[in-house]
Amino acid sequence: MRRKFSIAAVGATLALGLAACSGGGAGSSTDDASGAAGGDGGGQLVGVAMPTQTSERWIADGDAVKAGLEEAGYKVDLQYGNDDIPTQQSQIDQMITKGVKLLIIASIDGTALANQLQAAADADIPVIAYDRLIRDSENVDFYVTFDNYNVGVQQATSLLVGLGVLDEAGTAVEGVTGPFNVELFAGSLDDNNAHFFWKGAMDTLQPYIDEGVIVVPSGQTDIEQAATLRWQQETAQKRMEDLLTSTYGGGSKVDGVLSPYDGLSRGIITALQNAGYGPTRSDATPMPVVTGQDAEIASVKLIADDVQFSTIFKDTRKLADQAIVSGTSFLAGEEPEANDTETYDNGVKVVPSYLLTSDIVYANNIQALLIDSGYWTAEQVEKGQA
Ligand code: GAL
Repeated sequence: MRRKFSIAAVGATLALGLAACSGGGAGSSTDDASGAAGGDGGGQLVGVAMPTQTSERWIADGDAVKAGLEEAGYKVDLQYGNDDIPTQQSQIDQMITKGVKLLIIASIDGTALANQLQAAADADIPVIAYDRLIRDSENVDFYVTFDNYNVGVQQATSLLVGLGVLDEAGTAVEGVTGPFNVELFAGSLDDNNAHFFWKGAMDTLQPYIDEGVIVVPSGQTDIEQAATLRWQQETAQKRMEDLLTSTYGGGSKVDGVLSPYDGLSRGIITALQNAGYGPTRSDATPMPVVTGQDAEIASVKLIADDVQFSTIFKDTRKLADQAIVSGTSFLAGEEPEANDTETYDNGVKVVPSYLLTSDIVYANNIQALLIDSGYWTAEQVEKGQA
């Protein structure tokens, strides 16, 4: 179904201005370098639904989207769902009742919003899925995210770099044949992204597993075994503790852990440290190579301190800007520009998407990627706090 929108008083100039707008630091509010101030969104209400405040990235995302929309003259109803599906459903129901003209949604469970999206469609409200694809509904109009398969490739690549199998340029290092003991973690199965991260990572690791360079001593190589419901740190810590007891009791050592998110990485690191690894990667029983995602400040400090090995930086300021550019296109009665119309099949249709790129962070490029870009300050990295 194609919906008709009235042409709102939002011009192309505004969208262009927003495209240039930097959304501010990860934990800070928007900095207005764009001249978008005084945009004429005409005070229309936009609903922004975010999944949780337990992870700082979603707080930064919510703040940046809200600030950018307000800068452009819109009113914003920003809600966090507390990782609870009924809470998010009712927040979106209420946004529709309040008369929002656009919904921007980062879902908790990507399969649980079909009713809300039907109600939005009935009210001619366009829906943008933010970072996480909403599945099983034809009423998702657009998707802004990163190249999630490539995030998984980058996670596995950084694991191989940490093990010494590859150099940072991705070239095989002669004579490094392992075998390395690696354990695998995945995200929440109800989050479409978790499957993309896993696929990208496993496609990258499988040849090394086949050659015996990498072994998974627990044998837990299915995403169902590796998954972490709601991406919770404590759940990952508990699973790592269980793996250490069940599989590494006889003195064998863990060399690496594939982790798809910094929160999980911190739980995994705690379990490893409690079992006598580390505390850093240069200690006698070194901390294994642990990967991550999101460049959360606590984890960036752990990388700087030689505890965690890597993370993936997804610049949430750029994602917020993209959501605003795409959203203002809808509000102007236009189709947002997509750069991918093939990858994201939500089970009912392929959702037109705008994909951004991500970078691997190691200790030696924290300065260039995170500090020089203004995402974190040197002081924040030093303290490990926003
Ligand atoms: C995913 C997201 C990741 C990470 C994770 C846990 O959907 O793509 O960047 O934030 O959720 O919050």
